[in-house]
Amino acid sequence: MSEAAPSKRLYIKTYGCQLNVYDSERMADVLRPLGYAMTDQAEGADLVVLNTCHIRDKATEKVYSELGRIKRMKARKAAAGDGVMTIAVAGCVAQAEGAEIMNRQPAVDLVVGPQAYHRLPELIARAHRQSGEALAADFTADEKFDALPAERAATGVAAFLTVQEGCDKFCTFCVVPYTRGAEYSRPLDAVLAEAEQLAAQGVREVTLLGQNVNAYAGEGGLSGLVRRLAHIPGLARIRYTTSHPKDMDEALIAAHGEVEALMPYLHLPVQAGSDKVLRAMNRAHTADSYLRLIEKIRAARPDMALSGDFIVGFPGETEADFQATLKLVAEVGYASAFSFKYSRRPGTPAASMPGQVDEDVKEDRLARLQALLNDQQAAFNQACVGRALPVLFERPGRKPGQVVGRSPYLQPVHIEGSESLIGEIRSVAIGSAGRGSLTGALVANPRLEPA
Ligand code: 5AD
Ligand code: SF4
Repeated sequence: MSEAAPSKRLYIKTYGCQLNVYDSERMADVLRPLGYAMTDQAEGADLVVLNTCHIRDKATEKVYSELGRIKRMKARKAAAGDGVMTIAVAGCVAQAEGAEIMNRQPAVDLVVGPQAYHRLPELIARAHRQSGEALAADFTADEKFDALPAERAATGVAAFLTVQEGCDKFCTFCVVPYTRGAEYSRPLDAVLAEAEQLAAQGVREVTLLGQNVNAYAGEGGLSGLVRRLAHIPGLARIRYTTSHPKDMDEALIAAHGEVEALMPYLHLPVQAGSDKVLRAMNRAHTADSYLRLIEKIRAARPDMALSGDFIVGFPGETEADFQATLKLVAEVGYASAFSFKYSRRPGTPAASMPGQVDEDVKEDRLARLQALLNDQQAAFNQACVGRALPVLFERPGRKPGQVVGRSPYLQPVHIEGSESLIGEIRSVAIGSAGRGSLTGALVANPRLEPA
């Protein structure tokens, strides 16, 4: 939370029973970290919530007439240049009438039933997107979770190319949908032009970047973009990161089987292996649907190396839930991975969920998960020993006389060789493997394996 979080005025009107009184307090709790402070005046408020009651028919009519009054306040606030008043209808009328409320009173921005109050931050952010309002300014950017890798100058052999930004997924632990805003894709032509420029400067490999890169919505989607990029002379390798399982469509999977330049390495975060936790994370996939997706991808590209992101100690995660994560990891077999302890980000729905996990339990689970992931990475690297892999050489090694490149599976590969290899793809006989890299020697008579 930034110190200068602007205070926003929240007005909640509560109808009906004690349960609603309690729920109104909870809503205020969920919204406080977003910078909302309670006010007892609807006039001028930034967010007005009517927490409704459905017990008598009259009550519903009362809500609509109140909405009429608030609509006029919303208009006055806008006319005064005092920003947007967001109007939310919660409670039992919301539950019963749903989106119908917005049809009958279009000034209403969101309708939220009693089961979904923890999703208020998401719903408000979505409503703000629709009204074109600025992003929540009170989330501090988080280097670790929020930032894309910095764009490299196109002096090297491998370059990043941003094609998409933002996120519409609203995983309940994550600040990105609030800090980076809605999913946005650069137009296909702009991306192709930039890739052509990079290739003309000697770039041999591009990594397409986006928080949800496989939701790329330019013409032809990500698979279309990949196919077009594959035709650019000089560009030999294409990668992309980060992907969401939900957007891994058939066309993209097919491209992995058909486009030679598309490298057999995929970062596809799953976060957890327990369906209960995945649901609480709002991930829109189950452990099983993720596993079936991996099966399909491997059917298209049998040597696909997988990478993932994991969170341990999400609120409510039990030892049994954590075991389900270990089981999923064992079933997938990752070539590399990133794993994190759940970190409470104020203003995100998970931050106010019950069942926050103790720090020492998180530590312990992270250590066990990382031990398994490290073993898998070591096994994956070891399995490369004795093979010949095509390596794109990128830079001189730390020791004189060494050059370093990357295998199709993104492993750094060190060999003794001349710097003149930089920019070339050559077959390397892998002689040994460390946890994070491979060593080998140029194959004298290169017969390149298909990447
Ligand atoms: N706590 C822990 N890990 C997080 N990530 C994002 N938000 C959080 C959080 N609040 C992780 C996810 C995501 C990666 C980029 O960072 O695993 O995929
Ligand atoms: Fe955050 Fe990724 Fe989930 Fe978007 S898909 S909310 S960026 S973890």
